[in-house]
Amino acid sequence: MGIATRVVHGAGFEDLGSGAVVPPLVVSATFDHSNPGRMVYGREHNPTWTLLERAIADLEDGHGAVAFGSGMAGVAAVLALVPKGAKVVAARDSYTGTRELLLQMESAGRFEVDLIDTTDQDALGRAAAGAAMIWLETLGNPLLSVPDLARGALVSRQAGALLVVDNTFATPILCRPLTLGADLVVHSASKYIGGHDDLILGVVAARDGDLLRRLTDHRTSHGACPGQLEAWLALRGLRTLDVRLARQTASAQFLAAALAGAPGVLRVHYPGLSEHPQHGLAQSQFQGRFGAMISIELDLAAELAERFCAATRIWTNATSLGSVESLLERRARWPGDAHLPAGLVRLSVGVEDPDDLLSDLRQALVSVGLVV
Ligand SMILES: Cc1ncc(COP(=O)(O)O)c(C=O)c1O
Repeated sequence: MGIATRVVHGAGFEDLGSGAVVPPLVVSATFDHSNPGRMVYGREHNPTWTLLERAIADLEDGHGAVAFGSGMAGVAAVLALVPKGAKVVAARDSYTGTRELLLQMESAGRFEVDLIDTTDQDALGRAAAGAAMIWLETLGNPLLSVPDLARGALVSRQAGALLVVDNTFATPILCRPLTLGADLVVHSASKYIGGHDDLILGVVAARDGDLLRRLTDHRTSHGACPGQLEAWLALRGLRTLDVRLARQTASAQFLAAALAGAPGVLRVHYPGLSEHPQHGLAQSQFQGRFGAMISIELDLAAELAERFCAATRIWTNATSLGSVESLLERRARWPGDAHLPAGLVRLSVGVEDPDDLLSDLRQALVSVGLVV
């Protein structure tokens, strides 16, 4: 079945005789011991979680998936798999929350962290030696670098390391890392999977049953479980993922091309542009679509770049990404991203009319004196 069909029907569900056409939201915190699904207690089991997990496992071609209370709860569960004192290799431009947790765990003596440019094959090959886990992001945050996942899988296998891929920015519509050799795929479902900025949730898909069991046990013992409503909202969002992304990626391609070379725009980071350093790889790895995240470097100091972000009328000046409404944010405002250029603004392209999105950016550029 095609992916557009799978996002709508992948969860499947057994109706209870009502004729309902959408999956049920089950809020029960405990279950009768005689139930055939052997569900016991709401911190361990929930039928709505199960449907979401089944749908994500299907889309990612995984053995199974585990839902968590947030993307970061999923990240923490995966990092808990690393043996004490081992080495974790991750991207220098990985998501700030993941990077900060890695560094916190390193300072607590839990493991050693090697942050590298994961698009540099030689650096990856060198760093992988002796590593227990390699952590890649399908699209780096916020510079939208694209590591070679198949190569990452090869290097990980040779090193005996687990390959984890955070697929939040690409979603299974653009890329399925397990099919390229990854062991685990992490999603912040708070982003594209939910797609409406109304939930916080994480999901991790696993290649095999052993990893799945260890993650499930971690969730139960750490109480890192999702809310039932959030899981249901994620299931609802998932059903429109393909159509949302079709619009969002087409608009992003249009906006990136329009912004490249615009007055005051020093650089546009978008893998769909031929000048992107990994454009060719992105083309094959993402099956011709390049995602809906763009970063632009404006010729502005911090204060004026903040004024640009605040001057937009359709784009909202807010953190996060992946929703139907377009968001933008100056990334160096965050301590973890203070090394980035002061004028670097990350755009999460929503489903609005792309001409309106462009006009709004133009009037904001005019308002800060970049376009006259
Ligand atoms: C790439 C990526 N991974 C993980 C996370 C963490 O997800 P959550 O906010 O759902 O905890 C985020 C959040 O921004 C993210 O962008």
